[in-house]
Amino acid sequence: MTDSATTVTALRTNHPRGLLGVPSGRLVVSWRVRSSDPAAQQLAFELQSCADEDFEVITSTGVVSGASAIARDAPGGPLASREVRFLRVRIATHRGWTRWSPVCRVEAGLTQVSDWHARAVGIPCTPGGPSPLLRREFVVRDVPLRARLHVTSLGVNDIAINGQRVSGDHLAPGWTPYHQRLLVSTHDVTDLLVRGLNAIGAALGDGWFRGRLGWLGVDQHYGGELALIAQLEITYPDGSTDRVVTDEAWRGSIGHIRASGIYDGVDIDWRMEPTGWGSAGFDDASWQPVRLVPWQMEVLAAAGAPPIREIRTFTMRVERAGEGLILDAGQNLAGWVRLTVRGHAGDRVVVRHAEMLDTSGDLLTMPLRSARATDTYLLRDEGVTTLEPVFTFHGFRFAEVTGDAEVLSAVAVAISSDNEPRGDFETAEPALVRLHDNVVWSQLSNFLSVPTDCPQRDERLGWTGDAQAFAATASTLFDTAAFWQSWLVDLALEQEADGGVTAVVPNVLDPEAIVVEGSPVGVVGRAGWGDAATIVPWAVYESYGDDSVLRRQLPSMRAWISHLLARRGPDGLLPTEFQFGDWLDPDAALPWKAKVSGDFVANAFFAHSARILARAEALVGDRARAAQASALADEVAGLAWARHGPAALASQTGCALALQLAVAPASERARVAAALAADVDRRSGAIATGFLGTPLVLEALSNTGHVEQAYRMLLRRDAPSWLYQVEVGATTVWERWDALRPDGSVNPADPTDPASPNLLSLNHYAYGAVVDWMYRNVAGLAPVADAPGYQSVLIAPRPTVGVPWARAAIDTSLGRLAIDWTLRPHGDVRIDLEIPFGTTAVLALPITERSIITVDGEMSHDGARLTHGDHQIVVTAPSVASV
Ligand code: BGC
Repeated sequence: MTDSATTVTALRTNHPRGLLGVPSGRLVVSWRVRSSDPAAQQLAFELQSCADEDFEVITSTGVVSGASAIARDAPGGPLASREVRFLRVRIATHRGWTRWSPVCRVEAGLTQVSDWHARAVGIPCTPGGPSPLLRREFVVRDVPLRARLHVTSLGVNDIAINGQRVSGDHLAPGWTPYHQRLLVSTHDVTDLLVRGLNAIGAALGDGWFRGRLGWLGVDQHYGGELALIAQLEITYPDGSTDRVVTDEAWRGSIGHIRASGIYDGVDIDWRMEPTGWGSAGFDDASWQPVRLVPWQMEVLAAAGAPPIREIRTFTMRVERAGEGLILDAGQNLAGWVRLTVRGHAGDRVVVRHAEMLDTSGDLLTMPLRSARATDTYLLRDEGVTTLEPVFTFHGFRFAEVTGDAEVLSAVAVAISSDNEPRGDFETAEPALVRLHDNVVWSQLSNFLSVPTDCPQRDERLGWTGDAQAFAATASTLFDTAAFWQSWLVDLALEQEADGGVTAVVPNVLDPEAIVVEGSPVGVVGRAGWGDAATIVPWAVYESYGDDSVLRRQLPSMRAWISHLLARRGPDGLLPTEFQFGDWLDPDAALPWKAKVSGDFVANAFFAHSARILARAEALVGDRARAAQASALADEVAGLAWARHGPAALASQTGCALALQLAVAPASERARVAAALAADVDRRSGAIATGFLGTPLVLEALSNTGHVEQAYRMLLRRDAPSWLYQVEVGATTVWERWDALRPDGSVNPADPTDPASPNLLSLNHYAYGAVVDWMYRNVAGLAPVADAPGYQSVLIAPRPTVGVPWARAAIDTSLGRLAIDWTLRPHGDVRIDLEIPFGTTAVLALPITERSIITVDGEMSHDGARLTHGDHQIVVTAPSVASV
């Protein structure tokens, strides 16, 4: 029997679409289905794989019963080196089998160290100095059938064949703890090769490998020598192959890139670029032979996350003409300026960058601290040239151009790890839409291989606290599953022997990097930062429904809890130690001196992490360990509540942690919620939370019935508030609630704290975690905790007079989930829903005692369950918040 009403529309693996050279390891597939039969459900499926698209010689799972279309193991097990596998699926419903799905192709990279014939090669060049250029020529015997370039480097690389860049990627191989994991990119270069003589050439830059990182100005964190590792594999139509690898046959020279640094920008003297060095036939006799750079090839690993690419451009507007031309992109972003100028050979052009202007209209560079963020070019030719940097990026909205040449046009180029967009949100209140878009931009600008705190100053580090605060929201806005999993591998690699999690991943922080009241404070294992080890994997699992992340991270999660256990005092609680705490609480004089005590924060997160571990153990680990972790969570929560509960009630963050991290016992929740709501009322909705409380505070209110107060905070326009930033023109989310004061001035220096005056980034995503609340409560798409990957979702819009309509869509693993609701003039709410196949929507509507609910024209009730398809819901006499 065939089910012709049901079609599998798409199939994908756990690897980003289009990524070549994926890692081996667990290969899973998910699929999307459409059916015109409302009663259709997946009862079973069959997955097939084949080395060819014709599916003649197949491996099959056979018929597997079950309803889930998320993360099913692919037939054939993990991929072998270079393996190409085609996959397809069909499902059985009560009507019979569907037709086979469209085919999905996946291609593995080099997975064994023995696959590598390339060596690391370079030439002597000084840190902070000019970039080496490396090249060699080779013969291609015939028109190739297929050619793959596997490449990585110590330092960042820009690689081309016959003068053409092999991809649109930037800053490859990204940033990982290189001595433990160095990522390899694979490119299809078939079309770049010609029969006969070809050339391959690469420039290298210091990047994160050798450049200065962190505010202490330390460079060479990973080594002193730059090197390229490249292996080109050519397959001819007759099946024969050729290989071109980095080895002693390569030659190198110093070229036109005179200096490059992530923080400082580039100096390029275009006159020094050897003409034609990228092409075959160039005479490199004057170049030097390369030397082999010692490197452990075992750490090479295929990249599994999307590379950094150009994602959007903005034409820059002239803000101030004349000498010291000031340009405005209209959007704060991470990237650079692509400048077209007319000039003469030897003309100098200098481009400086900043997020804001000062009162006289000049760039305000103080918040960049020591990052120079300056690109300098010397022109080669008479006439028109387009200038663009390499091996750097800047966090900026404004740029200043000085020099001799005439500027013809300027474009701001935004770059980001190329994660696919996933969420869409619109609502009647334009300021909320701008807030959403600002958060999107803070994510784009800070997801650059690593989830960073900010993209502009001498920092740009993978702070674990910021990451855990934002992980759930990031997963809603973009498909970040592969991005997070790559970073989590590094988090585990960086974990100390006792399980302590570092404050930044990759870890480049000196143990003495942070000094408080004259003494260095330990930054490993801090509450709300180290807990990224449990919180991020869990957020990724909940959002995408694939338990691979929990399987992979389980040892790291366990180690983190062991670390915390070892730090417990005789009273069963974590003792008083330095904590970042509710970082940048707006009422605190110093960033770490929040109203809520660090001790409460530490133990609340301890309990929370133990609880997450318990859940992960129950799913993919060990039952006995699950019970132990759960008992530990209850014990720590109980002790923490007994000791710190009364004091915690006095702050928004204290209440939010008590409620959302389940520290307060069930019997106390109403009292805590009332205290929180009262605080919000007393402050007229002003935010009083820092990095740890902000992601939780609205959820804590709305989950306990205080939707009015949640909206009072969300819709407040005076500082401190989310919309205050929007009102004064923010285009990304700020680090401090009051980075800019209502009078337009910049938050002045705090004389008692050497660090605080410079925590003035306009592009930090932590406070943007509120966006998840907007999807869940304003739009009303709230995933159900025990049904990860949106297999079940609450339809729970919370209308308020200030926000009479909203719509949102999330491109879930199962397909598009969308809602569009309006509070109509005669007082009812109409909701249009689109539910993907495999998702159950549970109505949790804004009802009053008088409400009548109709679904698709028929009477229904709250709590009713809807399956796939389009639905119209009407709720009469809805409950509407009065804010
Ligand atoms: C970073 C933060 C980070 C914090 C922790 C700051 O300098 O920008 O986002 O989490 O330090 O101390």
